[in-house]
Amino acid sequence: MIDPTAYIRDIFTKPLGAQVTAHGWVKTRRDSKGIHFIQLNDGSTFQDLQVVIESAIIPESALSQATNGACVRVTGELIASPGSGQSVELKASELQVYGPADPATYPLQKKGHTMEFLREIAHLRVRSNTFGAVFRVRNALSFAIHKFFQDRGFLYVHTPLITASDAEGAGAMFRVTTLPPGPANPAEDFFGRNTYLAVSGQLEAEIFALAFTNVYTFGPTFRAENSNTPRHLAEFWMVEPEMAFCDLDGNRKLAEEFLKSIIGYVLDHCRPDLEFFNKRIDNTVLATLEHVAASAFEHVTYTEAVALLEKSGRAWEFPAHWGADLQSEHERYLTEEVFKKPVIVTDYPAEIKAFYMRLNDDGKTVRAMDVLAPRIGEIIGGSQREERYDVLSEKIRAKGLPEESYKWYLDLRKYGTAPHAGFGLGLERMMMYLTGMKNIRDVIPFPRTPGSAEF
Ligand code: 4AD
Ligand code: MG
Repeated sequence: MIDPTAYIRDIFTKPLGAQVTAHGWVKTRRDSKGIHFIQLNDGSTFQDLQVVIESAIIPESALSQATNGACVRVTGELIASPGSGQSVELKASELQVYGPADPATYPLQKKGHTMEFLREIAHLRVRSNTFGAVFRVRNALSFAIHKFFQDRGFLYVHTPLITASDAEGAGAMFRVTTLPPGPANPAEDFFGRNTYLAVSGQLEAEIFALAFTNVYTFGPTFRAENSNTPRHLAEFWMVEPEMAFCDLDGNRKLAEEFLKSIIGYVLDHCRPDLEFFNKRIDNTVLATLEHVAASAFEHVTYTEAVALLEKSGRAWEFPAHWGADLQSEHERYLTEEVFKKPVIVTDYPAEIKAFYMRLNDDGKTVRAMDVLAPRIGEIIGGSQREERYDVLSEKIRAKGLPEESYKWYLDLRKYGTAPHAGFGLGLERMMMYLTGMKNIRDVIPFPRTPGSAEF
């Protein structure tokens, strides 16, 4: 019996002797006297299906085209494999080549390529072991995120990608315009005003939290900062829960529970992919994830963190002192050397954080929290929001932000305000943490970074 819809993943669960049809792309091919071995992959699982072809059975015209990169359909019998590396293999009785791939020019060869080279062939790198594993993990992670919030009754809300307000009040935004280049009058533009690609969905998520209690957004986010680092993208994905009737402690607890839950899901559902990362990319990945899923996160205030940095005796590139933002060298020291696990730092100076964070009674610090992870640094940023009308409008004025743009945001504090809090997780930073991949460009399908928007 032939099941034409079977994934290779499903073929591995069939009994010996089953007649099956597999579709996929040839990863490697090996020939010996009268017998040919093809490693076939359709993306459904890390494990390739080994196809064994006897020259006598398959016409040479088809066989000669089944080279690396070719797309084929194979029908045959599932048999026990005498070779090491797999328990079953497919003994081919029919071979059809859908699309050959010229061996002389096919760019994805068996030999190891650099990540930089693979980025240049992002239309083909998805067929490699590494990127197959990356994108299966990304898929499972995305599902785990929805599952975590849906299981807790959070409402999924789609916030706009085109916006007139600067959610982070920091100004690194892409402009959206239909006007020709040159001096422009915003009133004549498509929306009759200046508009930008959203840097966050938070402000609109707050609208929804003050009607649906617990909500989350999960979508693309754009930042025009000129940061050419292994941790920054100009287009990335962010998950932003927002909770009414929640303070900073509740926010911190949810963030910890959330990270442990999504790590647990990926550990349970992507084992072969994670084992590959552990073997080939970073041999601490599995132990770290298992440790993090099982142990309590550390919590320090910003003031305590700065004291730890000051007494470290280190010669920092950026001196650590109260009032200065934590740099990545500081974040890494705290997570990798002092605590050796994720650390949540709270109560940062108001000056270095966004306008919407709730002011503490000391008048100097705000109810901010950053979750820092070993190797990655900041993976989550969040806060309890300023829900008091007067304090917020004063803050907007003091930061020199255009009050008109935030009228509706202030209205939320005028009509039925409530204590509320939320955070944002960078999906790609989480991906780096899960996989051990060193560059953020290699955990998103088509990276957008300064000077680069291929594909
Ligand atoms: O700390 P950020 O800027 O926080 C916010 O945008 C808030 N509105 C979130 C909220 O409270 N709802 O960004 C949140 C996270 C960071 O911790 C980081 O993981 C990721 O988004 N991130 C980036 N990831 C990749 N490339 C960039 N350029 C990033 N900027 C932030
Ligand atoms: Mg941040």
